[in-house]
Amino acid sequence: MRKTTLANVVASTVLSLAGGVLLTGCSFEDNTAASVSEKNATAPSTKAAQIWPKLDIEVKRDEAVEAKVSDIMSSMTLEQKVAQMIQPEIRNISVEDMRKYGFGSYLNGGGAFPNNDKHATPDDWVALAESLYQASVDDSLDGSTIPTMWGTDAVHGHNNVIGATLFPHNIGLGATNNPALMEEIAHITAKEVMATGIDWVFAPTVAVVRDDRWGRTYESYSEDPAIVREYAASVVRGLQGAADKDFLGDQRVISTVKHFVGDGGTVGGDDQGDNIASEQALFDIHAQGYVGGLTVGAQSVMASFNSWNGEKLHGHKYLLTDVLKDQMGFDGFVVGDWNGHGQVKGCNNNDCAQAINAGLDIFMVPSDWKVLYDTTISQVKEGAISMARIDDAVRRILRVKVRAGLFDKPSPANRPLSGDRSLIGKDSHREVAKQAVRESLVLLKNKDKILPLDASKRILVAGDAADNIGKQSGGWTITWQGTNNTNEDFPGGTSIFDGIQSLAEQQGGEAVLSIDGEFETKPDVAIVVFGEEPYAEGHGDRETLIYQHGSKRDLALLKKLKAQGIPVVSVFISGRPMWVNAELNASDAFVAAWLPGSEGAAVADVIFGKQDFKGKLPFSWPASPQQIVNIGDEEYAPLLPYGFGLTFDDNDVLSDTLSTKVEVSSESQEPMSILKGAVQAPWELWLYSGDKSLSVNASTHTIGAISYRTVDKEVQEDARKVSFDGSEFAAMRFASKSFFREDLSAQLLNNAALTFIVNRHSDISSPVTIGMNCEGEGDVAGSCSTQIDISSKLMAMPIDTWSTISIDLQCFVDAGIDFTGLVVPFELGSAGKASLSVADIQFTPESAKEADISCQ
Ligand code: BGC
Ligand code: BGC
Repeated sequence: MRKTTLANVVASTVLSLAGGVLLTGCSFEDNTAASVSEKNATAPSTKAAQIWPKLDIEVKRDEAVEAKVSDIMSSMTLEQKVAQMIQPEIRNISVEDMRKYGFGSYLNGGGAFPNNDKHATPDDWVALAESLYQASVDDSLDGSTIPTMWGTDAVHGHNNVIGATLFPHNIGLGATNNPALMEEIAHITAKEVMATGIDWVFAPTVAVVRDDRWGRTYESYSEDPAIVREYAASVVRGLQGAADKDFLGDQRVISTVKHFVGDGGTVGGDDQGDNIASEQALFDIHAQGYVGGLTVGAQSVMASFNSWNGEKLHGHKYLLTDVLKDQMGFDGFVVGDWNGHGQVKGCNNNDCAQAINAGLDIFMVPSDWKVLYDTTISQVKEGAISMARIDDAVRRILRVKVRAGLFDKPSPANRPLSGDRSLIGKDSHREVAKQAVRESLVLLKNKDKILPLDASKRILVAGDAADNIGKQSGGWTITWQGTNNTNEDFPGGTSIFDGIQSLAEQQGGEAVLSIDGEFETKPDVAIVVFGEEPYAEGHGDRETLIYQHGSKRDLALLKKLKAQGIPVVSVFISGRPMWVNAELNASDAFVAAWLPGSEGAAVADVIFGKQDFKGKLPFSWPASPQQIVNIGDEEYAPLLPYGFGLTFDDNDVLSDTLSTKVEVSSESQEPMSILKGAVQAPWELWLYSGDKSLSVNASTHTIGAISYRTVDKEVQEDARKVSFDGSEFAAMRFASKSFFREDLSAQLLNNAALTFIVNRHSDISSPVTIGMNCEGEGDVAGSCSTQIDISSKLMAMPIDTWSTISIDLQCFVDAGIDFTGLVVPFELGSAGKASLSVADIQFTPESAKEADISCQ
């Protein structure tokens, strides 16, 4: 061990001189009682030191803390130790499970509430915290009195709790460029979290996004690593307190810098994908948030779902142990992401020695915790995991618990802020959120200085985001995806229209809400609020940055108003910069409002000039639908550069004639299969009859009017046979997993057709249809579906023979299907009698023109 230590110091010092790497200290601290990198430590650490600095972490090793941890550990059993490393989810454990196992921590995922009650009160949250805590310190079954801790995704305020203050998502905060405000927001978040008895927050996300097609772009503060580094420090300080002041005091929670490392740099902006950056770029771009957050003492780091050059981070010993812990000097714990360990090569959700050996300290294992706990214990007994590694992990976990005062604090129900309902959505908290909203707005266009508007005028407020607090708040809002919320789910919150209306009223004007832009009396001006539907994680991944590809409903609304001679102010809600050239052309003024959160009314303060615009673009705004453009690029030609943002006095830079030619290259010209022998991910197969449904999990099923079985076309069970008895409409339906939106707009770019091979076994008494459903944007949100009649094609085919049918996708677009949000790509249905088999359902590129059913 000592030899390693000296080698590190020498290597680091030499390199710091040679390569100019900033090293803040030369003394190597042995932070762990039993380090895990003993074997071969010299080589990797020497390598790590060439790029990664040793951080001067403000929270220092404290011998009294270490002694206390050693004391607790001296009497712990292997079972108790492994239990500290297991983090289940509240939907999958009972208080009795906690009593029996004594988990070191637990979480509530997005959309998980006490008693499964979306409207759980702060008292309900505290009651759950209290009962799980009491069970954890009850030693009657597991012999352990170590307090558990509860972690939650408070990523824009305490966003799982009804009535909490919801701040703009990180992308909007990046636009404010105000680190002091970040610290205030984080402190408020800590207080609202503590009011519900929770100890720990899975924030900040410090991803530095390269490709804005990634569904988590809005969780990123900026494409500029310097801002992310500075913000990370401010947010961690706000959550945890300052190392030399009230560190993890009564008003503070444990923070997590996530997701380590490289989540924002995957190829194609693919969620959970592969980052192929060089090690230097990994540090210079993607790791800067860790430099900021860990220096001020963040106590936990979440491992990322992504890979680095093909190797999943959850199993990456070099990055988790050699770099993060040994070289950078992080002495807190590494928590996994949601079953992230299960994605490591050779692992599954309930078996992953590799992750622990790589340096993961806590498994986030929502539901498969019991088997994982048993497997891990056996793996230690068999020697697949060393006791030294377990001890290191447990020491790290307990070190944080001691630092956070968990052993000395009263139980959750008895802590100073617990149950203080007045903290949730408190007025002074909302004031800070409003300030953040005002500062986050970026003015992209202001033709003839139409803004600020005069509130004494007649104002038409249109667009489906105008009076929709859920839509303006985005994903991670009450539910995981941020969908299924209504304005009633935001007590105390305001929509953008609310603010416009109240200012207009104050100034003697009149604001009329009309989502579709219809009016009786012609308005002086229209404010149109529109944008992306909420999404989270991979559900927000897109092929292009085109806003509303396919249907251009909102553009039509802007144009309709313009055509009537009404000046149009667009307020755009989005989780990322998008290619909106057509919408910009059709707007007199255009405001990028990002995802402002629960305090939408504050938008009006700026539009009506109570305050000037301050926000600056935290991401470069794209000039074309697939442009990957970031500050610092050698060739840098965005539509609007990083840092752009007009104030009222500035002259406009955008014309009304930006190119609207869609020039995109599709990433894949491969056919995309829905059914190819097996049902292909992300699709799942369902049967429907009337209002009954079932998820196909066997080779034969009958439900209502439909019978289903697998049949053989070329190989065993590669086709599906359905018979409809004609008693009611029934269908075989392929749908996305959990019915989330899938962006298949690339299929349109590919000029693909929907093709399938079909065999008719009977006559057809009434129409057989192929349907699609989508979760649309704009005024058809959640409601787009269509069915195309293929009966005549079927009847033209000989009986009991396989033939191909192809349908031009344009036919579905014409019928209102939005390919950016497909939920059902294929549904075969009939209300009549028919017997058919199908196989090989796919989108086939470059086949639209020759399709059997064409709509060009
Ligand atoms: C996300 C994390 C989050 C966790 C718990 C994961 O899917 O990637 O950011 O903290 O879920 O909800
Ligand atoms: C769960 C969420 C969770 C998310 C993390 C979802 O399946 O419903 O609660 O936060 O996974 O990826």
